Amino acid sequence: MKHISVIDLLASTAIHQEFTVKGWVRSFRANQFVALNDGSTIKNIQCVVDFENTDPALLKRITVGAAVSITGMLEESQGAGQRVEIKVKTIEIAGDADPEEVKLTILSPKRHSLEKLREQAHLRVRTNTFGAIMRLRSKLAFAVHEYFNKNGFYHAHTPIITGSDAEGAGEMFRISALDPENPPKNEDGSIDYSQDFFDKETNLTVSGQLEAETYALGLGKVYTFGPTFRAENSNTSRHLAEFWMIEPEVAFCDLDGNMDLAEDFIKYVINYALENCQDDLEFLENRLVQEDKSKPQAERATMLLRDKLKFVVENNFKRVSYTEAIDILRNSKPNKKKKFKFPIDQWGADLQSEHERYLVEKHFECPVILFDYPANIKAFYMRLNEDGKTVRAMDILFPGIGEIVGGSQREERLDVLKDKMAELDIPEEELWWYLDTRKFGTCIHSGFGLGFERLVLFATGMTNIRDVIPYPRFPGHAEF
Ligand code: 4AD
Ligand code: MG
Repeated sequence: MKHISVIDLLASTAIHQEFTVKGWVRSFRANQFVALNDGSTIKNIQCVVDFENTDPALLKRITVGAAVSITGMLEESQGAGQRVEIKVKTIEIAGDADPEEVKLTILSPKRHSLEKLREQAHLRVRTNTFGAIMRLRSKLAFAVHEYFNKNGFYHAHTPIITGSDAEGAGEMFRISALDPENPPKNEDGSIDYSQDFFDKETNLTVSGQLEAETYALGLGKVYTFGPTFRAENSNTSRHLAEFWMIEPEVAFCDLDGNMDLAEDFIKYVINYALENCQDDLEFLENRLVQEDKSKPQAERATMLLRDKLKFVVENNFKRVSYTEAIDILRNSKPNKKKKFKFPIDQWGADLQSEHERYLVEKHFECPVILFDYPANIKAFYMRLNEDGKTVRAMDILFPGIGEIVGGSQREERLDVLKDKMAELDIPEEELWWYLDTRKFGTCIHSGFGLGFERLVLFATGMTNIRDVIPYPRFPGHAEF
């Protein structure tokens, strides 16, 4: 590449040397100062145009949103706000942006609501906020791979098209190559999937866990990091129909080891962001401070973004059994005053996000790991405890987010697993390969799933999950 990135240019000490830099015009002030951004950093490079000796027709084409290529000398800046700037020798317009049309888009330099930005998701990455979010997202993804690579895990690519429902929740998108107008039918009028592409019914995966388990029982420590799909009709700020999940799976590891791993992993990636995304975090932190000014005192954040991240890195997560949590909730003020939409009256109740948030934000005021849930509110593959009614499950709850991790020790005993599947009407024929792992060298093993977007939400301080993935999919929305 014959040109230098803005991030490298801003760090350069090669004063009086010539460089070419390419990017998009963020602003053009006084016919002289171009603020140029190329996405490599949140910062712009100031490029100073000698307007008296520049063709006025060219000057007119330096408009917000235009793509330009600038060649000039790197000089120490006289103005405040930047150490260096480019003294422009030549400027070429790579792609014009008509100001009249730009005015109608989110590229126009004024404050736009996040809703408006979502409608123009193809342009929002050119704003400071979304540039910062998406750079952070990328760095966090890198940190995920780095953590597992450093800790002896192998990356396993589990299938995206599957024939099983890992979570048993039935919230799946079907995959079919049959003609929807005229599908082959069985005698009873139902669709004959044996004539479909895979000779059977298939769907987009909701989790790579079951396949990851088979790999852990051969490679020892594995993880997946891929897209997962859920056709649940959850129109919330925490749910997507397509999201990315990280799922480690470890042989010879029990639930305590699983909790240790999850906590260590989360701390590592958040710390990585703190150390490697300082400019973007500073920007996002200031953004939140500004946003808070328009909120009533009681709704304002009690901690700055980076302090909140440091708090997570530096403090132990609180580990609490489901049974203890139910006692706390049952005796809590909102429960007694009937403030919960779903009152907690007895052991066995499924926890709603209002309960999770009470525990994390009001009671413990730190990340919480809940474990040993009632068996009948959890998936079939979780290991049954000696009490016969709880399973070795764990959920990690985060302030402002709620559930960020769901995991468990897996049921490794063939007979117990078969009984559970029978109880839930899960056909053994469908999971014969999964059951095989319990026949041939079964062992204690555990794993968890972390919703990547929920992690990015937490790290960026954003409040809507649709703002931390480039092109969000949710009910009624598959634009772009
Ligand atoms: O709790 P879940 O459903 O667990 C599993 O899928 C297990 N198979 C994971 C495992 O043990 N390997 O999902 C795991 C995490 C949740 O804690 C949440 O962070 C995220 O995935 N998640 C979602 N994120 C965004 N949108 C959705 N609709 C999500 N559903 C779950
Ligand atoms: Mg869960």
